[in-house]
Amino acid sequence: MRIFSGIQPTGDKHFGNYSGGFRQYAATQAEGEAFFCIVDLHSVTVDYHPPALRESSLNLAAMLFATGLEADRSTIFVQSHNVAHAEAAWLLSAVASFGELRRMTGFKERAEQQTFVTAGLFTYPVLMAGDILLYQTDLVPIGDDQRQHLELARDMAVRFNQRFGETFKLPRGQYPAEGARIMDLTNPEKKMGTTTSSDMGKILLVDRPDAIRRKVMSAVTDAGRDVRRAEDKPGVTNLIDIMSVASGRSPESIEAEYDGQGYGRFKAAVAEAVIECLNPIRERYLRLRSDPVELEKLLSQGAEKARQVSAPTLQAMYDAMGFVRRSGG
Ligand code: TYM
Repeated sequence: MRIFSGIQPTGDKHFGNYSGGFRQYAATQAEGEAFFCIVDLHSVTVDYHPPALRESSLNLAAMLFATGLEADRSTIFVQSHNVAHAEAAWLLSAVASFGELRRMTGFKERAEQQTFVTAGLFTYPVLMAGDILLYQTDLVPIGDDQRQHLELARDMAVRFNQRFGETFKLPRGQYPAEGARIMDLTNPEKKMGTTTSSDMGKILLVDRPDAIRRKVMSAVTDAGRDVRRAEDKPGVTNLIDIMSVASGRSPESIEAEYDGQGYGRFKAAVAEAVIECLNPIRERYLRLRSDPVELEKLLSQGAEKARQVSAPTLQAMYDAMGFVRRSGG
């Protein structure tokens, strides 16, 4: 089975990324041939700081290994190291419609935050579809916020296959049972996001224990004492999810232990569970990050493998679409 997922290098990685991304990557790498891509081409679609891009790509590589990916099992690489991604995106734009791209909620939300809305932000899901389809992917581990993008990638694959002949496998998304959408601690009606959440709204994977305690203890809950998941209790529901992801315990067992005990004791327990989960990750991350030469070596090996594996599909796309192009030029 082929597994593929991507994650943006820019911005500090947070507990939502851990829940929908990193921990699923580490779990799925055992199930087949896995590719995890640092999607630097995606990161330039919003305002960013060019000198920081290289650093953040290496930071993310270190975090991918720190959360459990193994270089001899999985292929970890940087998107721009394989030009096939940019080419596939252009070719696939022939089967993406303006109307469906305009409906993407990710686009609408991010466009609202920008004073300058780039064309790249609009066509972003086409690049993402290419990422996935180039590897004949079966399974895409992601969080719930990427669901609409994955559905669009599937639609585009079907459309391409119908229009130009059978070329792509149909990928399916894998969402975590618990924590598919971790919410902002200060506003549990919106998701925890890199740019959309304030410092207090998101737990960073590199946060120290005192910062984690401060953030969790001041998380928004409500007036009651009930520790149970309910639609009218988004704050408490979110904290139960966070504790479940951090500790591996079921939400039911967490409810059974803390219901009726008030929020102070519950929040303290959530904070300790998160600290226990993230402490070893932060330590491994700092160790790995101190050896950029080794990280760059691993990434260049990953890129080599990614180029090899995606080349036949890119060629098949060119062939199916009627281009004269042959691999290599
Ligand atoms: P990105 O970089 O925003 O996020 C990386 C992963 O983290 C998940 N995630 C969350 N999960 C649960 N709760 C949250 N609050 C939360 N916030 C983020 C995301 O769902 C994602 O799995 N477009 C993608 C990157 C991408 C990609 C791909 C993914 C590019 N090409 C191909 C899969 C396949 C993105 O911006 O993810």
